[in-house]
Amino acid sequence: MSETILVIDEGTTSTRAMLLTLDGRCLATEQTELTQHYPRPGWVEHDADEIWRKTLSVAGAMVAQAGGPSRVAAIGITNQRETIVFWDRETGKPLAPAIVWQDRRTAEDCRALRDAGHEPMVQARTGLLLDPYFSGSKIGWAMREWPQLREAGDRLAIGTIESWLVWKLTGGVHVTDASNASRTALMALDGGWDDELIALFGVPRAALPEIVDCAREVGRTTLFGDSIPITGMAGDQQAATAGQSCLTPGDTKATFGTGAFVLTQAGTTPPRSDNRLLATVAWQIGGERHYALEGSVFVAGSLIKWLRDSLGLIADARETDALARSVADNAGVYLVPALSGLGAPWWEPDARAAISGLSFAAGKPHVIRAALEAMAHQAHDLKRAFAADGQDWTALRIDGGMVANDWMAQDLADMLHVTVERPHFAETTALGAGMLAAVGRGLFADLHEARAMRGERETFTPAIDEAVRERRLAGWEEAVRKVVGG
Ligand code: G3P
Repeated sequence: MSETILVIDEGTTSTRAMLLTLDGRCLATEQTELTQHYPRPGWVEHDADEIWRKTLSVAGAMVAQAGGPSRVAAIGITNQRETIVFWDRETGKPLAPAIVWQDRRTAEDCRALRDAGHEPMVQARTGLLLDPYFSGSKIGWAMREWPQLREAGDRLAIGTIESWLVWKLTGGVHVTDASNASRTALMALDGGWDDELIALFGVPRAALPEIVDCAREVGRTTLFGDSIPITGMAGDQQAATAGQSCLTPGDTKATFGTGAFVLTQAGTTPPRSDNRLLATVAWQIGGERHYALEGSVFVAGSLIKWLRDSLGLIADARETDALARSVADNAGVYLVPALSGLGAPWWEPDARAAISGLSFAAGKPHVIRAALEAMAHQAHDLKRAFAADGQDWTALRIDGGMVANDWMAQDLADMLHVTVERPHFAETTALGAGMLAAVGRGLFADLHEARAMRGERETFTPAIDEAVRERRLAGWEEAVRKVVGG
């Protein structure tokens, strides 16, 4: 049997496929951009058909590179979480746009549920909060506002992105893995779909998929010729947690992709946060769940993309490293990137971004530096919340597109005051999905054994003057206060 794993990494802004070997080498990769639709301020939609077409194309290219389907041992899928797809079981076609995790259209609905006193119950059962981020309120909104979903009756299927892709790849298997299901606000952290939550959000129970393990065969695809089993699935942040080998309680990773997501491994007992962090399923293998404590920041790489595409301040994200280094400090400029509200630990869906502290002394490099500094500042807010929950970080494993920026990696070490580890192979999300798929295929006994796929790392150690650090943290706090109105 071939020992190549095909990983499908379905991010917020791109669709990717990768061929990984069991010693963690990446043999080939193919990527294509995904269209973002912003029909109104605060709304973000994807076309599920486009996601599928592009997935099929990049995955097909990888199967060809491998030398055909018989050379691919298994498929692993990892995906942007919470984004929700509505489709017709008979035609296999989407019935409406996919509502993306960044979408804030249900801010009002969530506020009403909070005012009615439902948040403690939602948090106790799901580990999540009442915020438009999670799928439950998005589904409720869609059922209310889009008549074609109600009219579809029994033909309606609902699922997160991995669920949609498995349906398409297998021709009708309707499943979701426990890590993705744990982001819907409809699943009990230690159980299955929860009827009370389903009723609270107004979700049609029959349209939901079956919740399954993250590492086991869920079906096979014959779309590339001979059948290939799909044996691994996890939300992208959970996959990155596996890819960074955060397997022992306390191990912590931060992924700087479209957003920034910090997860600390919590073992087999669901954690509880008193500081507005999330409890989530890291993965379920052999029916046993591992959990994580999570801090979700909505804007990271998307800020740099916005500075490039909407403001035209840079032509290429790679310019930011040199621009940040070209000035001695931020000249008092702070950028709070609340472009789609603020996530943890603030949870302010209506907050909007601000650049403050501008004077004639400030120029483009200071604004760019403030944008990069915002990454460490946001991470520092999370670290404080984790510490207050008794889970302070002793080191941080970083990954994601942004961390290729050396200046930013060092700034994280400086501002967080911990050693920061960066793997040479930065595609940790794909690696984690590959590890899960390899375990699900029986190529490794468990994730501990699958660490054989993990490569070398380099470290960044704190080297900042403490007074400078304090000054920056105080400046950031003041800037955030202006945005959240506290
Ligand atoms: O929860 C949203 C997250 O899964 C999105 O991930 O990689 O697109 O930033 P990414």
